[in-house]
Amino acid sequence: MSIAPRKHISWASRWTFILAATGSAVGLGNIWKFPYVAGDNGGGAFVLVYLLCVAIIGLPVLIAEILLGREGRSNPVDTMLTIARRSDVSKLWTVVGVMGALAGLMIMSFYSVVGGWILEYITEAAKGSFSGNSAETISSYFEQSLLPDRNLQFAWHSLFTLITFSVVAAGVVNGIGMAVRILMPLLALLLLVLLGYSSQYGEFMQAVEFMFRPDFSRLSADAVLVAMGHAFFTLSLGMGAIMVYGSYMPDKAPIAGTAITIALLDTVIAIIAGLVIFPLVFANGISPQAGPGLMFASMPLAFSQMPMGDVFATFFFTLVGIAALSSAISLLEPAVAWIDEHSNINRPGASGIVGVIVWAGGIACIYVDNVFDTLDFVTTNVLLPLGGLAMAIFVGWKMKRKLAKTQLGELNFYQFNLWYAVLRVFTPLGILAVFIYQLWPFMQSWAAAVM
Ligand code: TRP
Repeated sequence: MSIAPRKHISWASRWTFILAATGSAVGLGNIWKFPYVAGDNGGGAFVLVYLLCVAIIGLPVLIAEILLGREGRSNPVDTMLTIARRSDVSKLWTVVGVMGALAGLMIMSFYSVVGGWILEYITEAAKGSFSGNSAETISSYFEQSLLPDRNLQFAWHSLFTLITFSVVAAGVVNGIGMAVRILMPLLALLLLVLLGYSSQYGEFMQAVEFMFRPDFSRLSADAVLVAMGHAFFTLSLGMGAIMVYGSYMPDKAPIAGTAITIALLDTVIAIIAGLVIFPLVFANGISPQAGPGLMFASMPLAFSQMPMGDVFATFFFTLVGIAALSSAISLLEPAVAWIDEHSNINRPGASGIVGVIVWAGGIACIYVDNVFDTLDFVTTNVLLPLGGLAMAIFVGWKMKRKLAKTQLGELNFYQFNLWYAVLRVFTPLGILAVFIYQLWPFMQSWAAAVM
């Protein structure tokens, strides 16, 4: 393997990097998972623990991943190779980059199917389908009509993949950079408009209570592990998306401060999403839940009973679509950059190859049973935590300390060593705990099957 020529493309500014990384981080996890999980696991008590987890697991790895990218200045595979060489350690660490790029394609295969569902819901909302139908029709539409109609899912999935491909193919500066500079402000605007709407028409205080009232009795050991896992997932860590984005970061930009900004934006957006969703859900006497059921059954039902519901439902699904799209482009980037920098194939060509692979993966998710769930499980519970663990160990124990020190030049002695100590000790232990916790039930059943 040869080291790719240093291309040294760079975002237009430090803020473009922040928008792109925040775009990657803010996704379905913020909207359909965090608000519910917080409410269900002790409200304010959970939010506190979650913030702590972001501080000791999320932030240190976020800093490490950005730092790796900027030190290596190329796609995740070559970045790992370059830094392994500079640090005189085994070239096997390159596997982290390869696994990350593959994990991105696996995640995108099912993410694009969900992206397709969102496009269908934007269309239905805009057509006014929600207001005109019975509660029964609306809340069963997802399970009874959309899921069985595989060809319809295929069509929307294809469109979502095509849109993502177009952004990535247009390049880092003119494609991704341009897209996030339009999409992220639009996301913020829609979020604020919807927040105004839900505080006006929804049961706002009930939602605040659900999400924030501290109830330490509901804060189980389980909840702590859920908080750790989510802190990691919500920042898009462990698969090279942040690493490759970091490789385009301007030399002078401070990494730690930028990482804190991204983590804050991600958390604030997750909290506001909850304050948009639950007031509307409670105002219509619907019980809170997470996942596709919240997004595709409870929310349409809530909007159908609200003033100007169709308009605001269209806003809402557009918001979710933007969150999904800005995450999707970061799922493709590691693999696209790898092919682009490693062959004579240019960027549109590389995007085309990757686009066709994930398009096929999405088709498998739609038409073949269990593929969707298996890809989701393997990536979220195995590949991402393993990738993050490997990065923490690599930066903490293998990479030359001097390289990290130089990249984090803005930190003083105490700040640097605090980060370094946490990354070396607490972060790996935390990730390991989550990893074992998530796989434990499966290990038990495997063991039972073997014996
Ligand atoms: N952070 C995304 C969310 O909250 C999900 C995600 C996890 C992701 N890993 C990723 C997105 C890697 C893009 C790239 O929904």
